[in-house]
Amino acid sequence: MRDIHCHILPGVDDGSPDMAHSLAMLAAAKAAGVTSMVCTPHCRDPYFDYDRMVAAFDAFRSAASGFPMAMGFEVNHAKLMQLGVGEWGPRLGCRRMGQFLLELDTHCTANAMPEYERTIYQLQGMGWRVVIAHPERYDAIRRDPELARRLVELDCDLQASADFIQGGRLGNSGKTAKRLFQMGLYRFIASDAHRVEHYELLKKACQGYGVKPSHMH
Ligand SMILES: [Fe+2]
Repeated sequence: MRDIHCHILPGVDDGSPDMAHSLAMLAAAKAAGVTSMVCTPHCRDPYFDYDRMVAAFDAFRSAASGFPMAMGFEVNHAKLMQLGVGEWGPRLGCRRMGQFLLELDTHCTANAMPEYERTIYQLQGMGWRVVIAHPERYDAIRRDPELARRLVELDCDLQASADFIQGGRLGNSGKTAKRLFQMGLYRFIASDAHRVEHYELLKKACQGYGVKPSHMH
């Protein structure tokens, strides 16, 4: 199974601190059943440094002795607005998968949706398949899960982050995730792993929902 969202690259964001930890994460990923991955460091303040992240990917791929992996980013919407979709949109997706992993703003309201839609159309116009990272964490969707259906109608793929299985980050997104599963809106479960132990949650989430990452429909 493919893990399409993880912070396994060494020393570039709030994920793995160094190469030794990255390799320990890789071992945990394999033990959880992951057979390929997209490495997706944060494109978000204060972490984003494109050249450093690509260099970390090259170093990690060499150290990982042939494990199938591709480079991508978890692109925060506000950061993308700041960088410019036209300039950076073509560079920040995962080329091999044709996927662009977009993170919306955690404390968004429904009023932000039209702006998100414009960005999604722009990215789709560049040929990307837009994947929305962890919709269960966004305030607007927690208040109104129908907004997540709207994103699916826009032809986005929704990705659950495995920590929903223990209540989610800050302990409050688990309920929304379960609702979105009931509504049949997710396409992927990903680890969103920042540390070794997060792969245990991926295993539990996939077992709990009887699905494998990348194989939900
Ligand atoms: Fe993430």
